[in-house]
Amino acid sequence: MNLRNIIMAWVLLGTLCLTAQNVPTYLDGSKSVEQRVQDALSRMTVAEKIAIIHAQSKFSAPGVPRLGIPGIWCTDGPHGIRPDVLWDEWDQAGATNDSCVAFPALTCLAATWNPDMALLYGKSIGEEARYRNKNVLLGPGVNIYRSPLCGRNFEYMGEDPLLTSTMVVPYVQGVQQNGVAACVKHYALNNQEVARDRINVLVDDRTLHEIYLPGFKAAITEGKAWAIMPGYNKYNGDHACENSVLLLDILKGDWAFDGVAISDWGAVHNTMKVASNGLDMEFGSWTNGLNWGTSNAYDDYFLAKPYEKLILEGKLPMKDLDDKAARVLRLIMRTEMNRNRPYGSLNSPEHYAAARRIAGEGIVLLKNDKKLLPIAPDVRKILVVGENAIKMMTVGGGSSSLKVQRETLPLDGLRAKAANRGIEVAYERGYVGDVTGEYNGVTTGQNLNDNRSADRLIADAVEAAKQADMVIFIGGLNKSEHQDSEGTDREDFALPYNQNRVIEALVEANSNTVVVALTGNAYAMPWLDKVPAVLQGWYIGSEAGNAIADVIFGDVNPSGKLPFTFAKSLADYAPHAAADSLMYPGVDGNVVYKEGLNIGYRYTDKLRADRVNFAFGHGLSYTEFSLGKPVASARQFNGQGTIEVTVAVTNIGDRSGAEVVQAYVSDAKCSVERPIKELKAFQKVTVAPGQTQNATLSFDRRAFAFYNPTTKLWTIEPGKFEILIGTASNRITAKIPIEVKEEITWKD
Ligand code: GLC
Repeated sequence: MNLRNIIMAWVLLGTLCLTAQNVPTYLDGSKSVEQRVQDALSRMTVAEKIAIIHAQSKFSAPGVPRLGIPGIWCTDGPHGIRPDVLWDEWDQAGATNDSCVAFPALTCLAATWNPDMALLYGKSIGEEARYRNKNVLLGPGVNIYRSPLCGRNFEYMGEDPLLTSTMVVPYVQGVQQNGVAACVKHYALNNQEVARDRINVLVDDRTLHEIYLPGFKAAITEGKAWAIMPGYNKYNGDHACENSVLLLDILKGDWAFDGVAISDWGAVHNTMKVASNGLDMEFGSWTNGLNWGTSNAYDDYFLAKPYEKLILEGKLPMKDLDDKAARVLRLIMRTEMNRNRPYGSLNSPEHYAAARRIAGEGIVLLKNDKKLLPIAPDVRKILVVGENAIKMMTVGGGSSSLKVQRETLPLDGLRAKAANRGIEVAYERGYVGDVTGEYNGVTTGQNLNDNRSADRLIADAVEAAKQADMVIFIGGLNKSEHQDSEGTDREDFALPYNQNRVIEALVEANSNTVVVALTGNAYAMPWLDKVPAVLQGWYIGSEAGNAIADVIFGDVNPSGKLPFTFAKSLADYAPHAAADSLMYPGVDGNVVYKEGLNIGYRYTDKLRADRVNFAFGHGLSYTEFSLGKPVASARQFNGQGTIEVTVAVTNIGDRSGAEVVQAYVSDAKCSVERPIKELKAFQKVTVAPGQTQNATLSFDRRAFAFYNPTTKLWTIEPGKFEILIGTASNRITAKIPIEVKEEITWKD
């Protein structure tokens, strides 16, 4: 190498060293996140640390402009990326580049019982958030379905902690692979909307740990969620955002959470408590989190000037502020300042395909007598009836409301597919429900007005039904107030708007009537014995019409399973059984979960079978499956490792399909009362006609344990257990005896 090159090399090395010396650690992507966090923190003033832990606008918080540290931008919601609102208003910003793909509601995702769909979902919605330059997605919601009246159940994943835990982890991972934080919500015990901002939930420790915390615990300890949203309600007297048991003992203690606890909007009420009890960021104070707020209140936030004053007076420890600020900096380094993040995408064909595929896998075929579905080749004229066939469902329901680039409505999806088959599709309204179509300034643009009387609407539908080969009724709820909406619970278990009368009249006029219900909750089905086919359609977003048509015409073989119980009446749900107001919706600000573990099938398993219309885990297919005798790797369990169970699934029908093998564990004898059985594993397998695939189920110590509130240990008492294998909670086909010789306990 000649002298010139040597000199050039030294000059270059010198430059690099100088450059390297000039790049502060917090900006140096080659350094660890922790090094960068601590370096940034060391450079910040108290005022800057205070500034980054609370909102500066409706959905953003500042970074540190002086240091070139960008801020945090949050976005709703769990089903799609919310359109931008004005800086300090709930009203629309009027952007023309913020329409999105609406993915199916999370009840539908849960109904797929397919973690691969949850990963696809998280990846897709995370790409939309990333493209829109949002670094915190305010979702998923994982609150347990306690009452079928809860207005936000459509945003959550059903009644079972294991199903919720299994489905939330890949969703979180999918979102965060985009460099966008998932913010699992609403931690914890947000199981009703009545008095949501002040209701005080009283629940025993065992029920809290066995039923209501697992979904959050999985999201944090397995999904590694970078954020979590404590909700509005109180638990044991303290608001969730100011609750040291939830935030310090459990979340940051037991679960070692290193992310950011972000308040729900308007859920903070007290500086001393919120500063000391584990919350890290405050949003939405002086608003109701939906549609009103005090303008520019940001300096008056509880973690703003009031907190800064107490710090400067030495009345609150600097270490807590440093911890909050460090967590926010860590969130920024993981997202906005992660130079290796992908760039996302918006409204892509892949996202529409994902929305359609998840919807198709989540639709549940509840009943199919006479094999009325899929539509037979000889059907030439279909009548579609019902407002939900023509009403946009992506607008409304609260903060998960969206501005979609497009939404294919059920009637349009059915007509498109029918046209390809030369089938005529007529339409009748049947009933008038909610003709509005606006949320937060986003309007559907639909005019659903119809001045005919209820009787006239029914008469017209009946007349048309007599002329059709088949009738498809598409109704349900609609995310309007009290009909599956944030901020309000349903006031009745029945379908609204006279729908039961319409259904009865239709099936009387034409016995080939299918009922398709679009709801986020169970509902009464007084006409069930007369209706040969029923589909649970959920709120399924931009591709609703196409996904429903895919299933009805048989291009998709339904494989969804119910994520919650469809009991016959409200009284068949434990919180409502005694009509005890203290159990729901609460008395004098307190609601007491007296039912304990008796949620969903954990309760209805103790009732007469005829108290349930469709059981948890139920869902039919257009083909049939036969389960082989399960093979277990062991019949004794010592608490170490796992027991593996293999079940052969044979497709004995004539078309490909997917079955969900479900495994429930039953504890024959225990010193404490335990549910008759509890879901502890499942696997969905796709099988071609005539073929056999194995489902493999794994059981570790968690599958057999209960939470002992006295010792605070997970506990397996010695004795006999059974693993119950089946394809629904009420369709058990095999039992495997398992013995535990000695007591096993642990803390986690
Ligand atoms: C709402 C909701 C929460 C949402 C937040 C921001 O009140 O409870 O789920 O993410 O405020 O809109």
